[in-house]
Amino acid sequence: MIYMNILVTGGAGYIGSHTVVELIESGHNVTIVDDLSNSSEIAVDRIGQITGVKPSLFAFDLQDTSRLDEVFASNSFDAVIHFAGLKAVGESVVKPLLYYKTNIDSTLSLLEVMAKHNVRKLVFSSSATVYGSAPIPYSESSPIGQGITNPYGQTKYMIEQILRDTGTADSQLEFSLLRYFNPVGAHPSGLIGEDPRGVPNNLMPFVAQVASGKRKELSIFGNDYNTPDGTCIRDYIHVVDLAKGHVAALQNLNPGVNEYNLGSGRGTSVLELVGTFSSVTGQEIPYSFAERRPGDLPEFYADPKKAKIDLSWKTELSIDDMCRDTWRWQSSNPNGYVDNSMS
Ligand code: NAD
Ligand code: UD1
Repeated sequence: MIYMNILVTGGAGYIGSHTVVELIESGHNVTIVDDLSNSSEIAVDRIGQITGVKPSLFAFDLQDTSRLDEVFASNSFDAVIHFAGLKAVGESVVKPLLYYKTNIDSTLSLLEVMAKHNVRKLVFSSSATVYGSAPIPYSESSPIGQGITNPYGQTKYMIEQILRDTGTADSQLEFSLLRYFNPVGAHPSGLIGEDPRGVPNNLMPFVAQVASGKRKELSIFGNDYNTPDGTCIRDYIHVVDLAKGHVAALQNLNPGVNEYNLGSGRGTSVLELVGTFSSVTGQEIPYSFAERRPGDLPEFYADPKKAKIDLSWKTELSIDDMCRDTWRWQSSNPNGYVDNSMS
């Protein structure tokens, strides 16, 4: 086992914070750069509470190349995991330039500084959204880029291409592009979890807020899809499994650019997820059916074989675990990362 010194961009965020916990628990040393635009410093304190090690946090925008250069100059990084970026699909439709600029400029800034300091290993947060309207199940050899319905998804597709071109130009680079399916759940400690600002866009955080009484009812977008119960089917992955997938990817980097699906390979409908949440937590989830959400696909899930073979990684946790851990986080932090020490 080789312990590494790792920079995690976006490490105060939802998936980043869970990954930092798994990295520290695997013996790695972690430094975080995060501008806290969609996260809280409290998440970094909580990482310290869970692991006994509080990672250093540098709070600035990754597009600030000279500050990033200073962080690289004063640390000798072996590898980078790059989570930082904007991720709200609906907002990206309204503010496309903000999304293209932030997500792409941040990545270019990072690649430039990595090259200057001879850091060759990178794990990148991509998304199953790059498969657009490809036939299911999606495997890494499925076509990408067709039918992506929003600027956020386009930035993931474009950054993947930038990374492949960069990898072609320098055969010493070791890049892993991880295509996440639907991350949900929280750390079993209940100390870190997803803390959406405003009305949640995604299903699980909305369900959790209905369960806690913060929202009255869930609208289920469409019950007339060609699926067994008429609602959409997705491949939900527990965020702790996803975080472990990053550790596996990091420890199995090889020269070249490799793409991996991180998903379970199992589909779950909206109604199944809501039913499981109710039965596992004992909370009622009032819902009604609403119009289909534009851009939604009826069904998608991963073919997860490549990650299993190359990374010796597969999901371990169930939909029950995802619901139970989401509820533990939501019920013990009803307002997310609010600093109660001031009140
Ligand atoms: P998140 O918003 O919780 O985390 C992203 C973090 O990056 C935040 O802490 C934010 O403050 C920070 N950040 C944003 N722009 C920055 C910048 N310019 N400089 C420095 N820091 C910046 O989101 P998440 O759910 O943890 O997602 C992490 C990554 O995974 C993102 O790239 C996202 O696109 C990708 N992803 C997420 C999902 C999902 O469902 N959550 C699915 C597929 C891919
Ligand atoms: C969404 C994004 C996708 C992103 C992914 C991250 C869109 C179109 N796609 O995907 O780019 O990578 O999140 O996890 O936004 N649902 C409801 N009611 C709600 C919320 C959701 O019925 O209040 C349904 C949706 O219609 C969908 C399912 O729940 O069928 C899952 O939705 P969501 O959690 O938003 O994930 P995706 O749509 O898969």
